[in-house]
Parts: sequence; structure tokens; C-alpha cells
Amino acid sequence: MGLSKKMEEALNKQLNAELFSSFLYLSMAADFQSKNFTGFAAWLEVQSKEENEHALKFYRYILERGGKIKLSAIDAPKNEWQTPLEAFQDTYEHEKKVTNMIYKLLELAIEEKDYATQEMLQWFVKEQVEEEAQTSQIVEQLKIIGESKNGWFMLDHRLGKRKE
Ligand code: FEO
Repeated sequence: MGLSKKMEEALNKQLNAELFSSFLYLSMAADFQSKNFTGFAAWLEVQSKEENEHALKFYRYILERGGKIKLSAIDAPKNEWQTPLEAFQDTYEHEKKVTNMIYKLLELAIEEKDYATQEMLQWFVKEQVEEEAQTSQIVEQLKIIGESKNGWFMLDHRLGKRKE
């Protein structure tokens, strides 16, 4: 059974949103890199790649279901953040928005009795729990650190160890 037009459109929109997330985190990585926070930058580069993988999951799924891929323009992300806290607060807020998008997609799949899409979206439901937890933890750590340059560099060093 193929995808409904409505479902196909919504999945393509999510593909675009995941690409935007990838852009946003790459933009943040570049800003950190230019300020010599190479660990934060490395963490965000990994995150950007992960978002690209998310986009590809939607891409592959749409094709697998016989749908049509419709790529559209990606919004330009912000390119400057005043502090590490401001940047990571943005990542956390962004992830909460993405979680809502995934829930809306799931609601549509339920409405349409599209069981395959419901199943596929379960992976994203779980993934969002992890992404929110990760980014929220970094925000809380940055709040404790406050304006301490030492604290920033210690966290920068630790986050720079992220491999995947
Ligand atoms: Fe693709 Fe960060 O959600």
C-alpha cells in the first residue's frame, strides 16, 4: 500500500526539517570553532551529521513506500551565538520543537491508519527522548558553570570526546 498524498507531503516536510537541523548545528559548530571552542564544535559536527542521517531515514522510507521525494529550500540558520549557554539553549529548544513535529506526524499516521509509518516513527520518538535529555543536560551544566572560563574549557574538552 502506497503512502497517501498527505502523508507523503508531511514526510517530505520532515525531511526538510531534519536537513535544517543539520544546517543549524553545522552553523553553530562553525561559530564555536571560530571562537576556539573546538570541543563544542566537534560535538555539534557529530550532531549535524546525525541530523543528516535522520533526513536520510525519511528519504529512504518515502522511496521505499513508493512515494516521491520533493526537496525544498532549507532556511538559513542563525550564525552567531553570544555564549555557549545561548547556543545550547537553542539546541534544546530546537529539539523540543522537533519532538512536537514527530508527534504531529505520528498523529497524522494514526488518523490515516498508516501502520507502517507509525512503526517507522517509533524510532524517532525514542531518538527525541535521547536528544532532549542530552541537550538539556548540557544546558544545565552550562548554567552551573555560569561565566567561568575554566568551566567552559573543561566542558568543551569533555564534549570534544564525542565520537557518535
Ligand atoms: Fe533529528 Fe535532533 O532530531
